[in-house]
This record gives sequence, structure tokens and C-alpha cells, in this order.
Amino acid sequence: RYLDLRKPQMQHNILIRHKAVKLVRDYFDALGFLEIETPMLGKSTPEGARDYLVPSRVNPGKFYALPQSPQILKQICMIAGFDKYFQVVKCFRDEDLRTDRQPEFTQIDVEMSFIEQEDIFAVIEGLMKEMWKKILNKDIKTPFKKLIYQEAMDKYGSDKPDLRFGLELVDVTDAVKKSSFEVFTKIIKEKGKVKCINAKKCANFSRNDLDELIEFVKIYDAKGMAWMKVAEKGLESNIVKYFDEKVQKELIKAADAKKDDLLLFVADHKHHIVDIALGHLRNELARRLKLADDKEHNFVWITDFPLVEFDEDEQRHVAVHHPFTSPKDEDIKLLDSDVEKVRAKAYDITLNGIEIGGGSIRIYKPELQKKMFKILGISDKEAEKKFGFLINAFKYGAPPHGGIALGMDRIAAMLTGNTSIREVIAFPKTKNAEDLMMETPSEVDEKQLKEINIKLDLVKKK
Ligand code: AMO
Repeated sequence: RYLDLRKPQMQHNILIRHKAVKLVRDYFDALGFLEIETPMLGKSTPEGARDYLVPSRVNPGKFYALPQSPQILKQICMIAGFDKYFQVVKCFRDEDLRTDRQPEFTQIDVEMSFIEQEDIFAVIEGLMKEMWKKILNKDIKTPFKKLIYQEAMDKYGSDKPDLRFGLELVDVTDAVKKSSFEVFTKIIKEKGKVKCINAKKCANFSRNDLDELIEFVKIYDAKGMAWMKVAEKGLESNIVKYFDEKVQKELIKAADAKKDDLLLFVADHKHHIVDIALGHLRNELARRLKLADDKEHNFVWITDFPLVEFDEDEQRHVAVHHPFTSPKDEDIKLLDSDVEKVRAKAYDITLNGIEIGGGSIRIYKPELQKKMFKILGISDKEAEKKFGFLINAFKYGAPPHGGIALGMDRIAAMLTGNTSIREVIAFPKTKNAEDLMMETPSEVDEKQLKEINIKLDLVKKK
């Protein structure tokens, strides 16, 4: 790694990261924010990943958790009267790794009291504007575009759509329901839907290209993908015989199809499979057709996420953001009757199709927080054990508050034009969560284990 770091490109990446972090500190300082450090030896707080645990030698059988984020502690800072907090902070999550995920990563964590969503947006937009100007000498336009979650899913099949290109998803359920193509009509009868992407001027895709795309959508649980090419005299494909002239006309109109376009369809009973599969296909088409301009930096806020979603594995509702996120005021009345329809005061900031940050306006009333735990199937006892300290703190009066956390590694990657965050971290981990230079994780002496009351019975058995 140290030899790799000698390369001019890597030296540049680390320099840009340094400049960005310094700029963050100066920016928040100038606005009167305090950087407050929170402990690394903490208590498990739920962000949805597994915790890294640290055994306590002096408290046999007990463990600290490394923070997945300082979420609860920054809320407690608000209760403690520090109304503008930020921190450049290491967070730890034991989850499957990808090019934009490391087991330890850095957040720019922010929390403010007596604010609304728009105040957070303004502070973060100001930071991004300054960063892009001072580091890349680029002027980015503020305020950023805003898209509500539902619209992002409907139009782009993603909660982090790349808006540098079009290729919108079109719902053609109505247009094709009168066809005799049973794959579609059966799904429609059973309340499923059919959507398509109009790949402009792509009628020249070969059979081989199409086969590759069919395999591609299957990665995302689609059962298949149908296609039609727009020719001089109408549509052409292996299934076009099932679509009479009238249906074809409707379809052409719905998809705004012109000669030489290629229509790609996914149908499924599960609406989210249609959206997600086509959302990935949209990105794949853009990659193949080189539709996204590398030089463009397209920031978009995604708002109005659902408060909860049903988790099939756990058979209960789980928080989409986290359990401290406030429902939208106008949806509170639905908490008891139709909780899946409740929208949250939660938002993500995305850049060129990458989620670079997320946050929410928090619940600050103990009764509402209790209700939220109940909806999530967290018993009073469990809530007391896990977050008793937060609920207790609320009793002493909590200001309305909210915040956000930005992924520093992802931002540094965007600033340096990298797709992998490993390029902007001096000593990153591999996909297997290992550091090959330090050779860690590694075994430790029997004596060390004994001191912390750990015995490796299960590992030995394996
Ligand atoms: P969230 O879980 O959305 O929010 O995380 C915020 C941002 O941190 C980055 N990020 C990561 N970067 C690299 N590797 C990872 N494993 C990783 N996980 C997350 C992403 C993400 O958008 N407590 C809330 C914030 C809040 O509500 O204020 C939180 O942590 O860029």
C-alpha cells in the first residue's frame, strides 16, 4: 500500500481529501457550529447493520459497540443545549462490502435545534457549493433539485437516480392490457404492472445485446425482459404478433416511441421488482451508451421517504431511515390505520446517482417516540434497555431538532473522479474486510483472550 500511495494520483487523492476535511471544519466553524467528539466505545445504536463489538476486560461478559453513527449522542447534544453540532467522525458497520462501502468510514455528522428540513438543505448546499468552488473551481447551482421518493421510484426505479440522463420508466400497464400476450395480461389481472424504457435510437441492438440485458435484469429478480423495435411500419419483435394495431398505437404513444427506438419491458406482480430491475437497466443502458457526462455534477435531494417498510425476514415493520425519524405532521393520523402510507421527514442527498448523505427531522416528544418503538415491534422493556437513556433525556425537554450525515469518503471520491472509495482512503480494507498490509484481523495470544474472558470454542469447532 505504501508503494501504491507513492503514485502521483494517490498523492493527489489524499491531498484533495485533506483539503475537503479542512474546508468542512472551517465552514461549520464560521457558522458557529461546535465539533463535539463522541465516544468510540459506545452502545449499540440501530442503523441497520451489524455492530463491531469490543469486549470489556473490567466488566466480564459485557461489550461495547463501535458506533455505526453518533445518532443518539448527537440528539443528546441538542437536549444538552449545543444547538449546532458537527463532527468529522469514524463510523463502523459490519456489512457486505462494495466499491462504495467500507467497514470503517468517515461521516460529516451534523445536528441542529429549532430548524426545519429547509434549514438543513441550505447549510449542506452551502457546504457543497464552497467545496466544489474552492477545490474544483466549479460553480454549482443551488438550491439543488428536489424529487420526492415516490416520484424517484416511479420515474427512475431508484431512490438515488442519476439525472444526468433521461431514459425515464413509463408505465404501460393500461396500454398493453388489451394485448393477447399472456405474460403481461396474467400479471395485470393479478394486480401487477408492466413498465418500459424507451432506449432512443437503439433499434440496432443485436440479439446478443438483448440477451445480455435479459440476463442483466434477472440479477434484480425480474423474471425476464421483453423488447420491441420501432420500425418504419410499426413494432417488430418476437412477441409483436400478440399486439394488434390498436394496442401497438397506444403503446407507441405511451412510450413516445419514434422510428429506430427500442422498447424494453419488465412485468411483475411485485411493483418494486419492476421498478428496481428497470432502474438498474436504466443505469446499465446509460453506461453502454455513454449518456452521462463525467464533468457534470448533478446534486438531487430525495425527500418524503416512507417511515417504515415491512421486513419479510423479520415479519415486522422496520424503520426506513432509523427509529428516531419523525413522521410528516399530516401523516401522523395514519400511524394506527395505515402505517405503510406514512411518509417521513427524511431526506437523502445524491450526486450523479450516488447517495452521499442522509438525514431526518427527529421525533422529540417521548409519547411519539414510544409509539414509534411499538410500531417497530420493540417492546417497552427492549426500548428501555437499548435507548432508555434517550427516552429519559427527552423527559427533561428536548428542542425540535434534525440533522444529516454526509459520507466523507464518497464525497472525496466524487471530488477526485473515482468510483471506488478505496482510492481516497490511505489504508482501506479489502472486500473481505481485511487489511493486507497490517495483516489484520489476526489471531491474538491465548493470554489476551483470557484477560477479556473470551474462549474460542465455536471457532475451534468450525
Ligand atoms: P446513513 O446511514 O444514511 O445515515 O449514513 C450517512 C452516509 O454515510 C455514508 N455511508 C457509508 N460510506 C462508506 N461506507 C459505508 N459502509 C457507509 N455507510 C454509510 C453514505 C450515507 O449517505 N445517523 C444517520 C444520519 C442522520 O440521520 O443524521 C446515518 O448514519 O454516504
